[in-house]
Amino acid sequence: MSTAARARAAMTEPDAASPVPPAAAHAGPPILAVEALSKEFGGVHAIEDLSFTVSRGRIHSIIGPNGAGKTTLFNLVTGVYTPSAGRVLFDGQPVSGLAPYKLAARGMSRTFQNLQIFFNMSAIENVMVGRHLHLDRRLLPALFRFPSLVRKDREAKERAAELMREVGLGRYIDAESAAMPYGALKRLEIARALAAEPVLLLLDEPAAGLNATESREIDELIKLVAGRGVTIILVEHDMKMVMGISDHILALNYGRKLAEGTPAEVAANPDVVAAYLGTLD
Ligand SMILES: Nc1ncnc2c1ncn2[C@@H]1O[C@H](COP(=O)(O)OP(=O)(O)OP(=O)(O)O)[C@@H](O)[C@H]1O
Ligand SMILES: [Mg+2]
Repeated sequence: MSTAARARAAMTEPDAASPVPPAAAHAGPPILAVEALSKEFGGVHAIEDLSFTVSRGRIHSIIGPNGAGKTTLFNLVTGVYTPSAGRVLFDGQPVSGLAPYKLAARGMSRTFQNLQIFFNMSAIENVMVGRHLHLDRRLLPALFRFPSLVRKDREAKERAAELMREVGLGRYIDAESAAMPYGALKRLEIARALAAEPVLLLLDEPAAGLNATESREIDELIKLVAGRGVTIILVEHDMKMVMGISDHILALNYGRKLAEGTPAEVAANPDVVAAYLGTLD
């Protein structure tokens, strides 16, 4: 079967039901609202007049061909880029212009399409960096001088080890990050993002470069995290994963919204099939 045919089969035969139970209804604003958002890079409209909302406790996926603007959208939402126009509201509050670490401290964490591991640090220290986003930055230099803070750090280390076990990295707790295989590093990034105890987790291609077994394990991990009430926004090219795991899908093309809805609705949308699968032939 060709790549396109496989992807088409995955899109038209979504798993019968999402294994993630629907979240309880929450009052209040959506956890994320994107309003008329645009980002231009010297004439390239990477994101153009894009609006959508993300409701709490669900798995939302964003799909689209290479260059559709998915990573740019993540960078706009997480404060890496400033929008050319429009705005982003996190938990009802406008956040455009806030630094990524401030957003992380408010409960927004992410992983990166291109791994951003600190290879000069051990695996567990990488996870603890995520945890430290919770501590007052002014206290960090003092961390190793005061016994009470050292104790706090020891707690952070224990929590980081626990998180590593939860994401299936128990055997790497004492490892140097530079010695870890690629699949484990993808999980390490997820563990670091979880260390900040996010309410919203953005995953940019967590299964890219992984084999089928590793991809299934990531799929399970995402469901586990979502099952604990963390809202997930997933960017992923693995259509089988996307169709099986998502409560809601937003399809982008050339920075614009092509379609959105349930996996079945988006998979049946002829514009999505044409735009997305056309690129795979
Ligand atoms: N920092 C930048 N400077 C200039 N152009 C950029 C920059 N970042 C992204 N772009 C352009 O914006 C468009 C969207 O890129 P983006 O990386 O967001 O796509 P994507 O959907 O994540 O693609 P992929 O599936 O390949 O990861 C592309 O045309 C890209 O070349
Ligand atoms: Mg990308």
